[in-house]
Amino acid sequence: MRRKALPLLCAGLACGLWLCACAGNNGRPQPPEPANIQVFRLADNQPEGYPTVVGNRKFAELVQERTNGEIIIEVFPDAQLGDEITVVDLMRFGAVDFARVSSNTMATFSPSINALSLPYLYRDKEHMFNVLDGPVGDQVLESMRHLNLLGLCWYDSGARSFYSVTEITSPDDMKGLNIRVQETQMMMDLIRYLGGTPVPTVFSEVYTAMKTGVIDGAENNFPSYVTASHNEIAKFFIVDEHIRSPEMILVNTRVFDSLSEQQRRIIREAALEAAQVQRQEWARQEADYERQAIASGVKITRLTPEQRQAFVDAVAPVRDDYEEYADMVRQILETP
Ligand code: GCU
Repeated sequence: MRRKALPLLCAGLACGLWLCACAGNNGRPQPPEPANIQVFRLADNQPEGYPTVVGNRKFAELVQERTNGEIIIEVFPDAQLGDEITVVDLMRFGAVDFARVSSNTMATFSPSINALSLPYLYRDKEHMFNVLDGPVGDQVLESMRHLNLLGLCWYDSGARSFYSVTEITSPDDMKGLNIRVQETQMMMDLIRYLGGTPVPTVFSEVYTAMKTGVIDGAENNFPSYVTASHNEIAKFFIVDEHIRSPEMILVNTRVFDSLSEQQRRIIREAALEAAQVQRQEWARQEADYERQAIASGVKITRLTPEQRQAFVDAVAPVRDDYEEYADMVRQILETP
């Protein structure tokens, strides 16, 4: 059995629960042998109740149920195991087993993933999921084995838009502003093309950076904007939807490959089912958080087609700079 101290305790607890549930009920499956119980950790930087964490909990529940209690996945939300980059580093060396991470974060480790987050790439959410649930998405999930990582499924993360302490309605308004980005080269390039200064910052530090004036704005989806309280400071939200950066559940390949064929199948299927739950939860919460943003006094601007076009034109060179992904971009654009 892996990880002796904590797992032993969990194994004891799980066994106890099973014994209670199965006592005197011969038709039921038998509790797992303690020696067969494995306990894994899944990291997420979002708080309890956030759509990704709801999806993760569903994933853990399905896996535990279908492996007859032999695989227990403990979910650690709120960046308890570290920020995303740290968690991915830990995962590569087996110190964390599973994680839910943003594809932009993964692009810093495996640059071809940038192709998924090129600006104004998808026609809409349906187009994005046709891509992710098809050959391109599968290829990306399998493309991280050189990092000892395997992607299991795709979560929704909506579209990312800008928000700031002063009003922005055009790329011109961004001149001279410090805009926080995730730590990827492509996002830095995107901000430069818009005339702003990119400031790569860990997600959990964005609030303080904004509060202390180190940054003037950032970009994200409504649920992240509100749950991280960025709406308290950046009172202008502009729905420009410059990128979609989907999220995934990752597993360390040494963990995954050490499991039985049946357990691996259960994990893959559970991840796909959990992703469906996450996507529904996302749709529900996204609208809810937009309402909360409005209620908190934020000015939300929906761009006119002309205003939006100014952003599309300004960031168009990003696609040329990443010409090496032309083939993947073509596959994405050809996906219905
Ligand atoms: C989203 C995403 C996080 C990510 C964050 C960021 O909120 O869910 O995983 O860390 O964006 O902007 O860094």
